Amino acid sequence: MSAPRGQFSSNIGFLMAAAGSAVGLGNIWGFPTKAAGNGGAAFVVVYLILAFLLAYPALMAELTIGRHARRNMVQALRGIATGPISRFVGTVAGLGGILVASLILSFYAIVAGWMVAYLVEPFASLVGASHITDWLTGDSPARNLTFTAIFSGFTMLIIASGVEKGIERWSTVLMPALIILLLLLIAYVLTQDGAMKGLEVYLMPDFSQFTPELMISAMGQAFFSLSLGVGTMLIYGSYLSQQESLPRLGAMVTLIDVGIAFTAGLLILPAMYVAQEAGTQIFSASGELIAGPGLILQVLPALFDSMGTAGMFVAIAFFALMVIASLTSSISMLEVPVAFSIENLGMKRKPATLLMGLIIFALSNMIIFNVYNSDDPLTMIARVSTEYGQPLLGVVLCVFAGWIWRRDQLLTELQKGHEDIERTLFWKIWPWYVRIVCPLLILAAFAVSQGLVG
Ligand code: PHE
Repeated sequence: MSAPRGQFSSNIGFLMAAAGSAVGLGNIWGFPTKAAGNGGAAFVVVYLILAFLLAYPALMAELTIGRHARRNMVQALRGIATGPISRFVGTVAGLGGILVASLILSFYAIVAGWMVAYLVEPFASLVGASHITDWLTGDSPARNLTFTAIFSGFTMLIIASGVEKGIERWSTVLMPALIILLLLLIAYVLTQDGAMKGLEVYLMPDFSQFTPELMISAMGQAFFSLSLGVGTMLIYGSYLSQQESLPRLGAMVTLIDVGIAFTAGLLILPAMYVAQEAGTQIFSASGELIAGPGLILQVLPALFDSMGTAGMFVAIAFFALMVIASLTSSISMLEVPVAFSIENLGMKRKPATLLMGLIIFALSNMIIFNVYNSDDPLTMIARVSTEYGQPLLGVVLCVFAGWIWRRDQLLTELQKGHEDIERTLFWKIWPWYVRIVCPLLILAAFAVSQGLVG
C-alpha cells in the first residue's frame, strides 16, 4: 500500500526547489574561493565546461530515473534493476545515498548554524549586549549546539509541511530573495576601495594553474553544487509532473546554479580585497588567500565592522543570504531520508521528519562534541561524504541510467513533456554519454584525486 505522494504544482515551483537545492554554501562560499585559489578565470572556464559536460548529464540521469519511478532512490534503482545482482547494487546504492545525504546534512547544519549566529549578532550588538555578541561569534560547543538545533528545527518544519506546502512554497519565496540580496550586496561592495583588485584576481585567467588538481577540484565542486549522487535530485524529479521537458528543466537548473556561483564570485573576491584595503589580513601565513571558515567568520565580519553603520546592514544582508542559501539546500537533503521512511517504512510525513531530523541532529552532535576524536571532525565528514560518497554514487546512478535501464523505457520517459526528443541532439548524445563518458570521467578523476594514478 502506498501513501499519496506529493508533487510540485508547477514547473516554476520545481525549478525554484531544484535550484534552491543546488544553490547553497557551495556556490557562495566554495566556488568563489576555489576559483581565487586555482587560477581565477581559468578555474571558472573549466568549471563551466565540467558543469555542462559532466554534471548536467549526471543530473539528467537522476531526474529521469526519479520521475520514471516516482519513488525514492532505493525503490527507484530496484525498480530499474533487471536481475538479483543489479537489484542488490541498487538497494545498497540507494541506502548509501540516504546515508551520504544525512552525513552531508550533519555538517552542513553546523556551518549553517554559524550563519544564523552571525545573522543574530548585529542585533545583539545594536542593543549593546557585548557578552552575547562574544558568545555568538565564539566557537563554543554550546553556541554550535544551539544554532545547529535552531537551523535543523527550521529545516524540519519545512519538510514536515510536505512537497508543495513546504519545499515548493518556501523555495519560491526564498530564491528570489536570495538573488535580490546577492545583487544588492554586489552593487554596494563594488563601490568600495579595493573592489576592482578583487575583480581582477577573480576574472584574470592564470592558465599556468591548469593542472589535474584543478580539474578534480572543479569536478568535485560541480558535483557538490548540483547536489548530485545522493538522490536529492532524483527525489525532486520524482515529484515532477509528466508534462515538463526534463532536458530543458535540467539545463535551467544547471544554468541557475552556475550563474549564481559565478555571480557570488563578483561579491566575495571584491569583498576580500576591500577588507584588505581596510587593513584586514586576507592571506594565510603560507601566502594563500584565506578560504576556509576564517573567510566568512573573520575576514568578512572585520570588513563589515570597518564600514560603520552601513556595515551593520551589509552584515545582516550577507548572513541572511547565507542562511537562505543553506536552508533551501538543507531541506533537499532531509527530504532524502524522509521520503525513504514514508515510502519504505510506511511512516507518516511528520513523524518521519521528526525521526530523521533527530537522527541527523545526533550526527551533528557527534561532530560538535568530536566523538570521532579527529583534529577537525567537520572537515573529515565533509571529505568522506563529498569526495568519496558523491562521486562513487554518481557512477552507480549513471550506470543504472546508461546500462541497466531498458533503452525503450528511458526514451518513453523522456518523451513525456518532450515528444520529439528522439530527433534532438540531446537524445543522440546523452544516452551514450551517460553510459560511457560520465562513469569513466568520474572514475578517472576519482583515481587521480586518490593518488591511484598520475
Ligand atoms: N548543492 C548544495 C550546495 O551547493 C549542497 C548539497 C549537496 C545539497 C548535496 C544537497 C545534496 O551548497
